[in-house]
Amino acid sequence: MKASKSKPTVNIGLCGFGVVGQGVWRHLKEKSEVFEKKLGSLFKISRVAVRDMAKEREIDLDPSLLCEDPLEVANDPEIQIVCELMGGTEIAREVVLAALSKGKIVVTANKALLCFHGKEIFEAARKHGGHIFFEASVAGGIPIIKALREGLIANRFSLIYGILNGTCNFILTHMEKEGQSYEVILDEAKRLGYAEADEALDVDGWDSAHKASILAFLAHGKWVSTDEMLVEGIREITQEDFAYANKFGYSIKLLAVITRDFETDRLFINVQPTLISRRKVLANVDEVYNGICVCGDVVGTTFYMGEGAGQNATASAVIADLADAVSVLNGSKHPLFSGEISPVEPNEENSLKVSTLGEVMSKYYIRVAVMDIPGVLAKVATILSNNGVSIASVLQQEGTDGTGASIVLTTHKTSEEAIQKMVKDFETTDSVLSPPVLLKIGEFED
Ligand code: NAP
Ligand code: HSE
Repeated sequence: MKASKSKPTVNIGLCGFGVVGQGVWRHLKEKSEVFEKKLGSLFKISRVAVRDMAKEREIDLDPSLLCEDPLEVANDPEIQIVCELMGGTEIAREVVLAALSKGKIVVTANKALLCFHGKEIFEAARKHGGHIFFEASVAGGIPIIKALREGLIANRFSLIYGILNGTCNFILTHMEKEGQSYEVILDEAKRLGYAEADEALDVDGWDSAHKASILAFLAHGKWVSTDEMLVEGIREITQEDFAYANKFGYSIKLLAVITRDFETDRLFINVQPTLISRRKVLANVDEVYNGICVCGDVVGTTFYMGEGAGQNATASAVIADLADAVSVLNGSKHPLFSGEISPVEPNEENSLKVSTLGEVMSKYYIRVAVMDIPGVLAKVATILSNNGVSIASVLQQEGTDGTGASIVLTTHKTSEEAIQKMVKDFETTDSVLSPPVLLKIGEFED
């Protein structure tokens, strides 16, 4: 009988043992034999850094593994793979840079970190021979990073758009389908482990923006900062908007849209609540699911859907990165993740510019709460016309208390610059009761 060869052990350090960290731990333990067979290596979690060692957790850890300084984990010479699962952009940055400076492999789920410090992190990987993997940073369990970097390598991408935030989609679904209140569903999203520690990142659109910046980097080789994007969240959307959307045959989704015009060499990222026709697949992606359409010049349109947040979906993506990390330890090259190459030709990156707001065109839904007095509709129409915004349809609805009314308009294609000037004019008009609610009308050919 042949003696079985002992498998090499891969030492992993977890920085962060919250929703994601505990999910990774659990699945690595439960499937250790499967991973051993599939990857030919044994995963061993050797150290775990947390903020509060006394905290009660779902998983009881051997206390000797725990520490409160994630840099101890990053610098531990025994640890080959450092998983940064803490969140935030300060200590997380230090930890990732410390590990990369030692030539280690880093796996992170932290989209904010990559959006703000991606350039520096890739440069550190290149300089010191480290690797950075980040499948869990965008769209939870959907392997979208792998799809862009490998499966779709033959393509240039004129359009990538989709639902990138599970928390917002969960909230919008329950508001629309069950009439639940925003606050109640947000609490449920937090309880289920979907929301960020700072939930404003989710509901104000920033988390989607961070994820879009990562996708744009992979697709176009340029890090676009959030200052250069148009980012709006979902806080202002009410049941009234769902009722109007329903009447017109639309769903409301928070969409991130990455548009590249190859003729003018312009790139733009916007994150905005958007009306999309119920006939579109994306309009029917509900609950915590994310959905992403990637339009490539060779492949055409491809669509990806899966759970976008939560312990299991995210752990699945982190473990996919651990598998890639094992292949690096076994000698494989991943030049993109070691910062050796850029996702696109360098000359393309250099000439690429972000579009101005005057160049970004869309149709809009506008709901304005006004006093129910003579001439108010004419005033609203004048504000639009003064800003060159052309009305496609208009509807006025009496308020239930007899004092106010809602005017709901849709526009023809107009520039974002004109829309922003129009909003300012509404703010200084006395018969307008509150800032208008704006929803983009998404027109996508899929
Ligand atoms: P979480 O539940 O809040 O867990 C964060 C963990 O990090 C906790 O264990 C915390 O320690 C630890 N931590 C925070 N600051 C620390 C510090 N300074 N030193 C040591 N430990 C520290 O967060 P999460 O939901 O797991 O998210 C982690 C990361 O994954 C974030 O970047 C998030 O954006 C990303 N992500 C999350 C999801 C999701 O669905 N939750 C999906 C994709 C990506 P204590 O436990 O002691 O407080
Ligand atoms: N808070 C994020 C979301 C977690 O809800 O999508 C996944 O990145």
